[in-house]
Amino acid sequence: MITLTRKDTLFLLFVLVAAGLAAWSASNALANKKILIKFPHSVSINTPKGQGAEKFRELVAARLGTRVEVEVYPSASLMTDDASIEALAFGEIQMIAVPASKLDRLTKKFQVFDLPFLFDDTEAVERFQASPVGRNLLTVLESKGLHGLAFWHNGMKQFGGPKPLLLPEDAVGLKFRIMESDVLQAQILAVGGNPQKMPFAEVYQALQTGAVDAQENTYSNLYSSRFYEVQDYIVETNHGFVSYILVTNMKFWTDLPDDVRSELDEIIAETSHFVNSRAKAMNDIAKQKILDSGQSELLNLTPAQRLAWQKAMAPVWEQFRGDIGEDVMAAAIAAGQSSRDTGATQE
Ligand code: SIN
Repeated sequence: MITLTRKDTLFLLFVLVAAGLAAWSASNALANKKILIKFPHSVSINTPKGQGAEKFRELVAARLGTRVEVEVYPSASLMTDDASIEALAFGEIQMIAVPASKLDRLTKKFQVFDLPFLFDDTEAVERFQASPVGRNLLTVLESKGLHGLAFWHNGMKQFGGPKPLLLPEDAVGLKFRIMESDVLQAQILAVGGNPQKMPFAEVYQALQTGAVDAQENTYSNLYSSRFYEVQDYIVETNHGFVSYILVTNMKFWTDLPDDVRSELDEIIAETSHFVNSRAKAMNDIAKQKILDSGQSELLNLTPAQRLAWQKAMAPVWEQFRGDIGEDVMAAAIAAGQSSRDTGATQE
């Protein structure tokens, strides 16, 4: 049996207290460590998404500033959208807001957002996203370790090119930059164009050097990334929509303290309202600025010209209907129907 002297006992006590203090201060330091949310995206600050990311950062700083910090990296300054999807899955970043088109390798259901002439306007997209089937789309990434938080709008897409793209035959042989989406690829092939998947950050230079001839995007992206400077014609086709899915890493999200997560939920709801209520106006302002610049001629389609584009692209719906699923197709068609030109032939 070991007998301890008074000196030994005091020393042992000292060691135990010191170890306890060290453990307490380490766990305290961990608890006090700010939670970092890295949020890269690919467009400029002066866009619906750019403004949304800033708003989110500001609201988090005001309401959770001692516990959470948001770092926003606009204009692909940290990484491209493609790289960000992978980095999010690996937990290297914590939030993204990428176009649904770019998530099509994770779930085919998101391909619905790219179907040409499915949604007539922002209101139609909003109706679909608010429907039970639409809301359920936010959960479909869970099997991939990702958690959908919200839908953010940008706006309707327009075609731009070196000549007026008034009819599908005007697209024949042109190289079109598209997002990383199989539906968009099929859409351009359907009109005889040559689709080139390319990150957003490379588009301006590709148009400038002639690596691609044409592209499709929203007025806010065309204006803020200055594509109108290198496109002689922009045609208001309104043939598709850019919709973002705000996504986080599932493990990051579920590991958050409950009170932080619920405050973030509220901030995200407020930010989403902020983005979605301004997106259309921001696109209208961008369109006016492009018009004022005089650098690109802006053309409208006649109803007959629009119908010709719709007819040429109609087979794309059938090509992807099976992968998207009948429930999603039906809900999207129903949401778009009330404002749709009934001359459309897709159904
Ligand atoms: C974006 O709006 O985030 C980019 C869209 C694109 O890649 O064209």
